[in-house]
Amino acid sequence: MGHPALGRRAAEITDVNDPELRRLVEDMVETMIDANGAGLAAPQVHEAIRLVIFQAPAHRSDPGLSEAEAFDHTAPLTVLVNPVIEVLSPEREGGWEGCLSVPGLRGWVERPAHIRYRGLGLDGKPIERVAKGFHARVVQHECDHLDGILYPQRMNDLTKLIFESETKHWLEPSA
Ligand code: NI
Repeated sequence: MGHPALGRRAAEITDVNDPELRRLVEDMVETMIDANGAGLAAPQVHEAIRLVIFQAPAHRSDPGLSEAEAFDHTAPLTVLVNPVIEVLSPEREGGWEGCLSVPGLRGWVERPAHIRYRGLGLDGKPIERVAKGFHARVVQHECDHLDGILYPQRMNDLTKLIFESETKHWLEPSA
């Protein structure tokens, strides 16, 4: 937090077949898994381009969901180039978020609960999905990085910006 790459709008990717992109994505996946994170955006590794990776595994979603409901709540490891988000309903949902660029902290962030996103995969094919729950949250969090926004800027109650070590006093963090 504070690095100039995290505070500005990242550029559109014009050549999805650039082999450098593949190398970058491999590094990003490794970094995300090492840090036990759910997502990472290229500006976090100081590449100011519109590329995010994320995953929304089933164990992160609400255990009370039916199989049909759970579909929108989960996503495999996904690489998304030039993503665009459309908010599908006015409903908002709060959840705890963390960020590799804001280490040691957690914050309670309210975001639209139901979105559609579009973008390109690394194979150049279009990806379009509807997302809810943790899936919607992680995509919005990562895409915010492409516009220079970190999650504390989305918070409306800074008393809920806390140290990771104090999460035991709150509900278990969900993001
Ligand atoms: Ni982040």
